[in-house]
Amino acid sequence: MSTLSTKHLLGIEQLTRADIELIFETADNFKTIINRPIKKVPSLRDVTIANIFFENSTRTRVSFELAEKRLSADTVNFSSSSSSVSKGETLIDTVNNILSMKVDMVVMRHPAPGAAMFLAEHVDAQVVNAGDGTHEHPTQALLDAYSMREKFGSLEGKNVIIVGDILHSRVALSNILCLRKLGAKVKVCGPPTLIPKYIEELGVEVEYDLDKALQWCDVANMLRIQLERQDIKYFPSLREYQMQYGLTTNRLERIGKEITIMHPGPINRGVEISSEVADSTNSIILEQVENGVAVRMAVLYLLAGQANVDE
Ligand code: CP
Repeated sequence: MSTLSTKHLLGIEQLTRADIELIFETADNFKTIINRPIKKVPSLRDVTIANIFFENSTRTRVSFELAEKRLSADTVNFSSSSSSVSKGETLIDTVNNILSMKVDMVVMRHPAPGAAMFLAEHVDAQVVNAGDGTHEHPTQALLDAYSMREKFGSLEGKNVIIVGDILHSRVALSNILCLRKLGAKVKVCGPPTLIPKYIEELGVEVEYDLDKALQWCDVANMLRIQLERQDIKYFPSLREYQMQYGLTTNRLERIGKEITIMHPGPINRGVEISSEVADSTNSIILEQVENGVAVRMAVLYLLAGQANVDE
């Protein structure tokens, strides 16, 4: 198979294992290209992409923009703070106005879960979800799994622990779905108040003790506490959280085994992860960021090939 089964990238939920493997194989080629002196290919020369971000972003936004430039697409960038959204315009009106300027694809980050799917149902363009509230962040999960595949060859049978604020994390949900599709075993770890009630229905186990979780895993993906999404107090203090769930050199030395350390960023150094661990040789945090460009190039390139498919 050399095409995706979908016209949009709304979430990992809609992707098959074959889709994910095709994205990875395509990303392998793009990774080779972006490490050459001439990093650009003409693949999306006739495609115009709008990056519309209704929430803050550093990595995802820059990574999509670079991926689009490397593919020679025309791009337009738009953020809610500098737009007429602040004057009361609806999401559909905003996007339809942009589309009437002959835009082919929309990459959108939005605080509302389901916003990407809503948009795909209501506008005549391909939609890429760059994070929709607490729902999904599919390209983050793809670049995370791609980075693990690069390290281990295959994810089949690998043990991955996702630690932190699972309740508010779109990265956690997309990672769980992606890793399970690729044959990895997943556990989540964090304070009981930050673990969703029915998480086991996704085929993951819950481990509240970080030391036990680390004993079990090959990979620890550390998430930040999403204070901006928390309207009540879920744990007594950041200091207490750090003591129970922070990844430190002391803790890793006590565990006494090699664990690959990941983090989607932004990092809160000294809370979920110490600087020493984040910058250690077992950390692949910057490799994740590097791989994000190749993975997003693959996603955009493959989706462009599906532009005329009816769904
Ligand atoms: N990982 C991630 O989504 O980072 P940004 O919020 O900076 O895009």
